[in-house]
Amino acid sequence: MRPSRRLWSHRSTLLTAYSTLANSGAIDNELLAEIGRRYDKTGPQTALRWTIHHENVVTIPMSTTPAHIAENIDVFDFRLTGPEHDRIADRSTLRTVAAARLG
Ligand SMILES: NC(=O)c1ccc[n+]([C@@H]2O[C@H](COP(=O)([O-])OP(=O)(O)OC[C@H]3O[C@@H](n4cnc5c(N)ncnc54)[C@H](OP(=O)(O)O)[C@@H]3O)[C@@H](O)[C@H]2O)c1
Repeated sequence: MRPSRRLWSHRSTLLTAYSTLANSGAIDNELLAEIGRRYDKTGPQTALRWTIHHENVVTIPMSTTPAHIAENIDVFDFRLTGPEHDRIADRSTLRTVAAARLG
């Protein structure tokens, strides 16, 4: 995602990160779960937090399960550290963000 973000950020354009959860492998990802436990959050919440930390990026997680919808919006009361961000990025854990397209 980095080259795309650099390209578009100075143009005041938002990127949409789609398929952030199931279709990026975030649901059962152990690294995301491990980091999330430090904040009493789940792996999917960690993935969403990582995504929305990026400037000019929004994400559109999809869910039809009320508990998941509540979980997915509950990501604004914690922040990942720089090293945690780097671990997630280095492992290419969030494939969707790496392949973000304009939505
Ligand atoms: N612009 C484009 O080109 C483009 C391309 C692909 C997708 N999209 C859009 O992006 C949105 C999301 O994409 P997506 O549906 O592919 O992927 P997604 O958001 O990564 O995954 C959705 C799946 O994750 C499950 N889920 C959601 N929250 C969860 C949680 N907290 N814990 C466990 N499971 C959870 C959902 O099941 P439950 O319903 O049971 O929660 C659903 O099966 C959709 O609206 C889609 O139309 C756009």
